[in-house]
Amino acid sequence: MPDGNLWESGWLKTVSNKQHTHVVNERDLPMNRNLSRLKKFEPERESLLEEIIGGLSKSQKELPSKLFYDKKGSALFDEICELEEYYLTRTETSIMTENIEDICSVLGENCLLIELGSGSSKKIRLLLTGLANPAGYVPIDISEEHLISSVQVLAADYPELRIFPVYADYTQPFTLPNFEFTPSKKVVYYPGSTIGNFEPEYAARFLNNIGKRLGKGAGLLIGVDLKKEAKTLEDAYNDKKEVTAEFNLNILERINREHGSDFILDAWEHLAFYNIDHGRIEMHIKSLSYQDVQLNGSLITFEENETILTEYSYKYSIDDFKDLVSDSYNLERVWTDKENKFGILYFEVK
Ligand code: AVJ
Repeated sequence: MPDGNLWESGWLKTVSNKQHTHVVNERDLPMNRNLSRLKKFEPERESLLEEIIGGLSKSQKELPSKLFYDKKGSALFDEICELEEYYLTRTETSIMTENIEDICSVLGENCLLIELGSGSSKKIRLLLTGLANPAGYVPIDISEEHLISSVQVLAADYPELRIFPVYADYTQPFTLPNFEFTPSKKVVYYPGSTIGNFEPEYAARFLNNIGKRLGKGAGLLIGVDLKKEAKTLEDAYNDKKEVTAEFNLNILERINREHGSDFILDAWEHLAFYNIDHGRIEMHIKSLSYQDVQLNGSLITFEENETILTEYSYKYSIDDFKDLVSDSYNLERVWTDKENKFGILYFEVK
């Protein structure tokens, strides 16, 4: 994982660190007057390729989870969220629904919402409807087309809301728009337990950096999947309809398309299990035979049963998570479900 400057302040034309260079530009979205132009921090094809080759050169081969979210992957993820076994989305949504008045009164009037990985911008609706005069909404997502279609629908449904869409890989440097107003509070909304994708040390550094960037008093409203019995967890990542398997294997299809590799999809299998020692679900793609794959002029060899790690999904206890970010944040509130499956935590920057 890169150890970069995660959030730059101010506007820069080109933002770069060792790993990536992002070219900033804008794109018009024909919609209402409150929908700003799309700010684009497009990851360069070359640096993504480097990341892919780097990952496949490790002894445990790996691919970055962010590659899941192309157009097809984002649609498959939406489908996962509706699955019987995938309790996360359903549970998080019902906690939000049941506590929406309380949550909104904690956030207060005139607050600016910044959402990391806004996807379909569905979860945000509860907050947008419940909040008194939200100052604005900044959806940040890595799937450009998905972001554009989502904000257009949202803008039509919330014509009074100022929306500042940002197309970016939020683990890499990017800048927030310049706002011509002062919100009472900036709140980062990070639902879905996406923070679980990162190893705990990285997650801590990432959230602490955001806290420093936003300054004292800023909020972090974050969804965290909680530790529970392995069976429930493993079922959630091995659904009967095999949508998760398709989501996982889509990463190979995408690399074939975008980087000209020749992965044969039938030669691979989805694998997901709970690693109890590390408190994480691991998703891998398993090679069904000895095979060579060509990628950008070099051959990569896979043994039979060798795997490519594609995702971690860490599970926490509320106390562990509180301690994880205690350098920069105070835990103010916790909302959870009866069975303690999922937590929604509200922190403020110290
Ligand atoms: C979006 C990262 C929260 O880890 O549960 C769903 C992604 N992977 N099924 C998760 C995912 C397989 C999801 N997050």
